[in-house]
Amino acid sequence: MSADREHFSSKLGFILAAAGSAVGIGNLVGFPVAAAKNGGGAFLLIYAIFVVIICLPVMMAEMAVGRHTNKDPLGAYTKLSDNDSKWKLAGWLGVITPFMIGVFYLVITVWIFGYLFGAVIGDLELLADPNTFGEFITGKSLFVYMAVVAAITGVILMSGVKEGIEKAAKVLMPSLFVLLVLLVIYVLTLDNAFAGVSFYVLPDVSKITASVISGALSQAFFSLSLGMGILVTYGSYMSKKQDIPDSSKLVALTDTGVAFVAGLLILPAIFSFDPNVDTANLSDSSVSLIFVLLPKIFLSLQADVGYFGASAIASLFFLLVFFAAITSLVSIIEVPNSAIMGEKDMSRKKSLATLAVMVVLLSVFASMSFGMSEFFTKFVSYAGADKSLFDVIYDVFYDTILPLNGLLICLFVMLRWKKANFNNELMEGAAPGKHKWLLKYADFALSTFIPVILAVIFINTV
Ligand code: PHE
Repeated sequence: MSADREHFSSKLGFILAAAGSAVGIGNLVGFPVAAAKNGGGAFLLIYAIFVVIICLPVMMAEMAVGRHTNKDPLGAYTKLSDNDSKWKLAGWLGVITPFMIGVFYLVITVWIFGYLFGAVIGDLELLADPNTFGEFITGKSLFVYMAVVAAITGVILMSGVKEGIEKAAKVLMPSLFVLLVLLVIYVLTLDNAFAGVSFYVLPDVSKITASVISGALSQAFFSLSLGMGILVTYGSYMSKKQDIPDSSKLVALTDTGVAFVAGLLILPAIFSFDPNVDTANLSDSSVSLIFVLLPKIFLSLQADVGYFGASAIASLFFLLVFFAAITSLVSIIEVPNSAIMGEKDMSRKKSLATLAVMVVLLSVFASMSFGMSEFFTKFVSYAGADKSLFDVIYDVFYDTILPLNGLLICLFVMLRWKKANFNNELMEGAAPGKHKWLLKYADFALSTFIPVILAVIFINTV
């Protein structure tokens, strides 16, 4: 029943929780690498345009569906379609996707937590060893870290929307902003830091290809936590008095701002560590950046700031990433949790306990995808290669289903729920007459080119 559904206690609470979901590993590590490799300022511009013209309307659509129905994605699709089995299928996808991405995200958060621990105990020498990462992700100690991360996530979620999700966001997000700014200020004082800044912000149009453009859109989509039912679910906890378009703008701005500023941390650090860095192969992935290159950079700081200084800086960095990751993890697990509570009429405690068993079990299997188990490492074979369970989750859910979910929400809002209802919901908490142009634009975009673009991406990856 909607009457006893928990709600965020304030507008700020909602914004911080939604921004907490959006700001994640993707912002702090994925974005800077992608931007630097793919044309710097030119990439930044394309990314920003996508955030405004594509992601913002989709974000408003998700929030509006959630708040109007007071339900998780499955409940929302079911209610608004009068139990139409076709749309219920979309609702199921809207719950299974975050569940699977949650499994994948837990694995990565556990790695980060392990490195945080290593930095705190001052083991930079070990973290910087090129073999450490491979040994760490295939070692049994991983499961101890996983138990801790799962417990932290569980405690936050168990405390509910106000006392858990919102309180955690109110502590962790401001801390994250402070940590980020402090680290950026420090890094900018290093030798050659500004070469990194120039490389990051100066546009190189020659790098812009079709795949860079579509990569920018996928990055923006993932970064804003779209297509995962998260904003539907968080929207269902939002007060009717809150202005959805304004809230969407703030969340998008915070997320994009943090991603941009993270680049001012990562690239100067790389360039001051190695002024002759081979920019063509800047670090082939965010994983190698965070777990191989950055630890080396932190170790090298010992010459500058000593053993304790370098460990402190490394610890603050991994704490920053950990805070970002945990608020995202909480949001993604809350989606299936809210669906189980709604569908099965279960208490939060029971539902979370059930979910914990499933998520942790699958994450254990996904963690064994890197060599620990032959079965999960060579799980299936497609596209001419052996794929691990972890790869499969990534390829299927991140690459393929995410844009599909985005497509489905556009079609649902425009064809089934209808424009007028959507617009009424958007205007619930807004001053009359406000957002006139934005609403016109969102209606137009969501019923024309956004679904077309998302369909093209979906078909292409399939
Ligand atoms: N938006 C997060 C990021 O940028 C990703 C994410 C959030 C993924 C929530 C899943 C769930 O890293």
